[in-house]
Amino acid sequence: MAIHNKSHSNSALMTINKMNSNHIKHKTSVDFHIPGVTNCILLNEDCIDLLKSLPDESVQLILIDPPYNLDLAGWDTYENYIDWAARWLDEAYRVLSKSGNMVVFGGTQFQDVKSGDLIEIIYYCRHKTKFRLVNTIIWYYKNGMSAHRYFANRHEEVIWLTKTDKYYFDLDSVRVKYSEKDLESALKDKRLNPDNVRKGKNPTNVWEIGRLNGNSLERVGHPTQKPLEIIRRLVKALSYPDAVVLDFFAGSGTTGRVCIEEKRNCIMCDTDAESREYFARHLENMNHTKLAQPFVMNDTLADFFREINERFGDLDNEAVNK
Ligand SMILES: C[S@@+](CC[C@H](N)C(=O)[O-])C[C@H]1O[C@@H](n2cnc3c(N)ncnc32)[C@H](O)[C@@H]1O
Repeated sequence: MAIHNKSHSNSALMTINKMNSNHIKHKTSVDFHIPGVTNCILLNEDCIDLLKSLPDESVQLILIDPPYNLDLAGWDTYENYIDWAARWLDEAYRVLSKSGNMVVFGGTQFQDVKSGDLIEIIYYCRHKTKFRLVNTIIWYYKNGMSAHRYFANRHEEVIWLTKTDKYYFDLDSVRVKYSEKDLESALKDKRLNPDNVRKGKNPTNVWEIGRLNGNSLERVGHPTQKPLEIIRRLVKALSYPDAVVLDFFAGSGTTGRVCIEEKRNCIMCDTDAESREYFARHLENMNHTKLAQPFVMNDTLADFFREINERFGDLDNEAVNK
């Protein structure tokens, strides 16, 4: 049976296309300014302690790559995974702003009862929280381990959760340019909005981005470091310049580096003190690129929020005493 492509008769899509053509802003668009300098903080502490010290609705994007009890390292072992995860998921919901986004990296690698995985997290969010699931993104890569007793794994998932349906989303910032040949035929397709076609394609929810090889120049030494490209796409699409981004499983601090480069503020924490060394290497690498931007590294959350508030004057964040 043929399944019709209804995108050209989707009324929400038609309304957005019409608004774009008439240069009318969507109700979720934000009048942001581009800051001259941004703030960043990396704390060496447990995620629950950090979350509890953050004010309600003070964060615009939460981007995390949690441990899943896979015994990959000392930090990757919890007796009852979902009981533990529920504690940070509930706190994450509280600190997220109403237009905020949360993304969680993971997989569906369930092996035994003590393991955690994205399925458990989705189940918890769906049944025990008010989070809404917007997309499950398939991160597909061609490079990976070989296998003999099962099909070699070549994808991981990223879930995108929001608190309301008024979430911030900047598709234009992450559109993928058409090749010259495809652009020509796309411009002839009457179902497509020519302005959008010129801006590029929706990257869809299947992203082919290579994993970091052992000898990748991006590597700073963390065993599960994520590629800059995938973090950048998420930061650009789901937050705006000078927004507050939170990564409470920072690892090497890939999120922090991308936030500096993309002019967002970033709060990070990790229980592993080595995070600081990894992050220092990220900053060193960043300084050799044209993406380096001025930023201030804060020691306390009070300083972090005070400096952001001073820049805006109108931000709702209360400085926290820490
Ligand atoms: C999967 S790694 C994150 C890697 C990171 N995305 C990167 O690109 O480098 C997860 C990190 O969570 C940290 N971690 C584990 N349990 C934690 C906890 N309770 N609080 C804060 N950090 C924790 C680990 O030390 C580890 O560095």
